[in-house]
Amino acid sequence: QQTPLVDPFARAITYLRVSVTDRCDFRCVYCMAENMTFLPKRELLTLEELDRLCSTFIGLGVKKLRITGGEPLVRRDILTFFGAMGRHLESGALDELTVTTNGSQLEKHAAALYAAGVRRVNLSLDTLNEEKFARVTRWGRLAQVMRGIDAAQAAGLRIKINTVALKGFNEDELFDLVDWCASRDMDLTFIEVMPMGDLGNDYRVGQYWSVGEVRAQLEERFTTVDLAERTGGPARYVRLAETGQKIGFITPLSHNFCESCNRVRLTCTGELYMCLGQEDRADLRAPLREHPDSNAPLIGAIRAAIAAKPEGHDFDYSRQRADGQVSRHMSHTGG
Ligand code: GTP
Ligand code: 5AD
Ligand code: SF4
Repeated sequence: QQTPLVDPFARAITYLRVSVTDRCDFRCVYCMAENMTFLPKRELLTLEELDRLCSTFIGLGVKKLRITGGEPLVRRDILTFFGAMGRHLESGALDELTVTTNGSQLEKHAAALYAAGVRRVNLSLDTLNEEKFARVTRWGRLAQVMRGIDAAQAAGLRIKINTVALKGFNEDELFDLVDWCASRDMDLTFIEVMPMGDLGNDYRVGQYWSVGEVRAQLEERFTTVDLAERTGGPARYVRLAETGQKIGFITPLSHNFCESCNRVRLTCTGELYMCLGQEDRADLRAPLREHPDSNAPLIGAIRAAIAAKPEGHDFDYSRQRADGQVSRHMSHTGG
């Protein structure tokens, strides 16, 4: 048994987020530019390489694996990879295998995800209005996602809806989203929009709607009770006393949660990002490819990377772009 991964701030790294593709069939305005240049296929880790990397992390104490993108379910044969990771659930090495998806391919893949051992799916959805949905995703079809949700629930998958709180966009849908999630027995989490990608800061400042304000609006109709429970993610939860519903808040801007960070992010090209809001990263593809028969160099590179994990991000709308914004697109590291 290897010594577990602990960073310089005494945080144990037990959660790996893996982006398996930079591609997506949507172009959410806060995530991607309309015209994205995607990576050529040869740059991507193969499914076998992804397996070897993830299995190495699991050997180093990672307990939770979240597959992201881009949109992970648009990668060809990705269900093979989910199936392969299922063996770590069976052996007890891994506690949870999950996915964050836009839902567009769920109708097709829900049953196979469940069969691979996935039990929970996080689904990004910012509006219940068809026309607004097409606008925020630039061309996505809400009906297709709704069919995906139906299929996922029929397959036995629990769903958490992630809604990016956008001023002037979904402010008026707060209660509709809460009611809809209650009626379908889904959890709901609101996320503050982060200044990433190449849209100017000015634009995001206009859209920024603090989750504190979201909560205040919720409290016009509901009594909120703070919950102590955590799922190993950054969200804090409240319960609505009137309905018993659980609502999560992810507040990178108004209340950063870096002190309890337990995760690192792997991109589809094998770069390990130590923090969502920083450029610090390490190349794991080279030790992986150059040493097909020994994991020692790879483990060395992972340990060196964790030893350099920064204390936190510094997203900030009140400062200039140069230091308050990350120019990388969110789709690069999968949120
Ligand atoms: P669970 O708690 O397991 O449901 O998942 P999660 O919240 O870790 O994963 P999810 O993919 O649903 O994450 C939701 C969003 O929260 C991400 O897409 C990011 O936008 C944001 N987020 C997650 N982790 C971090 C983090 O370490 N730092 C910041 N700033 N934001 C994060
Ligand atoms: N700020 C906050 N959340 C974002 N996401 C994508 N881009 C941003 C951003 N700039 C969210 C998506 C999805 C998750 C993967 O990240 O809505 O829920
Ligand atoms: Fe695709 Fe998700 Fe980014 Fe939207 S937020 S463009 S669905 S990766």
